[in-house]
Amino acid sequence: MFVHEKNAVSDFIGDLTRKYGRQRSSLLPILQEIQHKYNYVSDFAQQEVARNLDIHPVEVYSVISFYAFLYDKPRGRNIVRFCKTIVCELAGARAVAEAVKRELGIGFGETTKDGKITLEYANCIGMCDKSPAMLVNERVYSGLDPEQACKIIREIK
Ligand code: FES
Repeated sequence: MFVHEKNAVSDFIGDLTRKYGRQRSSLLPILQEIQHKYNYVSDFAQQEVARNLDIHPVEVYSVISFYAFLYDKPRGRNIVRFCKTIVCELAGARAVAEAVKRELGIGFGETTKDGKITLEYANCIGMCDKSPAMLVNERVYSGLDPEQACKIIREIK
C-alpha cells in the first residue's frame, strides 16, 4: 500500500472513530464501513482501528474472522459460492465445485490474480433440493454438471 493510500485509510478511520466514538461497541460498525468502502479490511486498516480504539489488533482480527460479511483479504468482483454440506455433496456438488476450482486455477477462499472471481464455500445457498447448484453473485444456477458449471465460469472469466 502506498503512503498516500495509507493516509487516506487513516483519515477515513479517524473520521469513523469520531462518528462512532472510541468505545468497544464501535468496533463492528467501524469495520462494516471499512468493508463497505474498500471491500475488505486490510492489515493496515486493522492496526489503525486497534490504535484508534485503543485495543489489541488481535481483537480486531477476531471480530473479522467471526463475521462472514467481513473479509481480511481483497475479494473478486464476482463471488462464486458452493454449498459445502453433506446434503449437496451427496447430490454431486463436490464434483462440480472441483471442476470449477480446476477451471479457475484457485482454491476455495481464494481470488483469481486478475481480481475477477473469488471462490467461496457457504453452509447453504438455499438450493438444497436443486443441487448441484452454484451461486454467482446473486444469481443461482441449479441442476448443474461439471461441464455446465465450467461453461458459466468461462463466460464471466
Ligand atoms: S444444504 Fe446445500 S444448498 Fe442447502
